[in-house]
This record gives sequence, structure tokens and C-alpha cells, in this order.
Amino acid sequence: MADSSSFSSTESRDPDRGIMQRAYQGWAPFYDLVCGGLFAPSRRRLVSLASMAGRDVLEIGVGTGLSLGDYDADIVVTGIDASDAMIARAKSRAEAGTRARIDELVVMDAEALSFPEKRFDAVVAQFLITLVPNPESVLDEAYRVLRPGGALFLLNHFRSANRAVAAMETRAAPFMHHVGLRPDFPFERVTDWAATKPDLSNILRIPSGPFGCFSIVRIGKAG
Ligand SMILES: C[S@@+](CC[C@H](N)C(=O)[O-])C[C@H]1O[C@@H](n2cnc3c(N)ncnc32)[C@H](O)[C@@H]1O
Repeated sequence: MADSSSFSSTESRDPDRGIMQRAYQGWAPFYDLVCGGLFAPSRRRLVSLASMAGRDVLEIGVGTGLSLGDYDADIVVTGIDASDAMIARAKSRAEAGTRARIDELVVMDAEALSFPEKRFDAVVAQFLITLVPNPESVLDEAYRVLRPGGALFLLNHFRSANRAVAAMETRAAPFMHHVGLRPDFPFERVTDWAATKPDLSNILRIPSGPFGCFSIVRIGKAG
């Protein structure tokens, strides 16, 4: 696993699990209002890419299930999240009806998935990887449960390549931790992790969202 001490000294520390859980218990009632519309086109694009990988999709950090309605009828979705308040909302959304079959929505830590290896065709992590205490462990777990030939999909904001913007993100990061956000996470954490996987077939990064401020990342596992 990559040693986070080797990353840029300007990068903020990895988040504390307790702070993150409290933040998302608090976010649950307002989350859809704030993170619904603006993020929707990027979510839909990611879902359509993930659906090409096969029928069985796992969403880690599924939140309130904002993407559940975007999957087609031939897809079976399993969702996990560390927050019971977020999972409760995802369940209500699933009960209201989706085209896709929702297999289960459960409280689970993305760092310790209870699924067997090679279980899923695609694993989706939207706005999650920068918020967990051990991002490389979460990526390891997502990769473990992915079948050969499948793919892992991330949707996230990563630290800007523009130095002035990156400096602002770095300054804002300590304040944003407390509300469960982390703007200064470098994409190099993902590529450094990817370099530790000999069976990884390719990694593709597509700009998305307003002003390309998000990235869709597809990480393929060789078949
Ligand atoms: C920014 S929200 C994103 C939710 C959803 N993926 C979306 O795009 O709307 C981050 C989610 O990750 C969850 N989360 C944080 N740490 C987690 C962990 N270690 N394991 C599973 N879920 C976690 C939070 O509870 C929250 O629901």
C-alpha cells in the first residue's frame, strides 16, 4: 500500500472516521438538495459507463442513492454506506421504485467489504474516495471484489492542476474537513495506488461537471 507520508506535504491529512460519520449523519436530510442537480449529468455519464462492464454493480458510499434511478432494468445494484442515515434514505428511494433491481442496501465500511472476491462486474465510488480515512485500502477492497475484465469507476473532484486554484484548495481543506469535504486530494494518490496492481489493464480519466471540475476515472482489471 502507498505510504501517505510520501505525498505532497501540502496535502491535508486523511479524514478522521468519526468526523466523517458525524458529518454525513448531519448531511442526510439536505444532501439531495445540495448534491442533486449540479452533479446529475456526471452521475448519469458514470452510470452508463459502469453499466457497460456487466450486470452486477456495487456502489460503495452509495449515500442517499441519488444514482439508483439512473441504472437500466438489466442491471442489479448493491449499495453500501457507512452512515445508517444515508442508507435509510437510499432504501426509501429504492422502495419508491427503480428500473434496476436493487439487491441490497446495507451499512458497511468500504474498507472492509463483506463480499467475496471477484463478485462484481463494476464497482462505483462517487464522491467517496477523498473522504475515507484510508483511500488506498478502500481502492484495494473495491478491486478485490471486482471480477477480472471488470472495472472500477470513480467520480470525484481532485486537486486542481492550476497552481493558484490548488493553493486555495489547500488553504480551504482544514475548514472543509469538518463538513465532510476534502478539496485538495491529489489524483496522484490514485495513479500511485494503480501502479501497485500488476493485473490492472488501464486507467482513463475524463473531465466532467461544471468547468470540468470533476473527473470520471475508469480503472480496468485485466480479464
Ligand atoms: C459525498 S457522499 C457521496 C454519496 C453518493 N456516492 C453520491 O454520489 O451522492 C459520501 C458518502 O460516503 C459515505 N462514506 C464515508 N466514509 C465511508 C466508508 N468508510 N465506507 C462507506 N461509506 C462511507 C458517507 O456516509 C456518504 O454517504
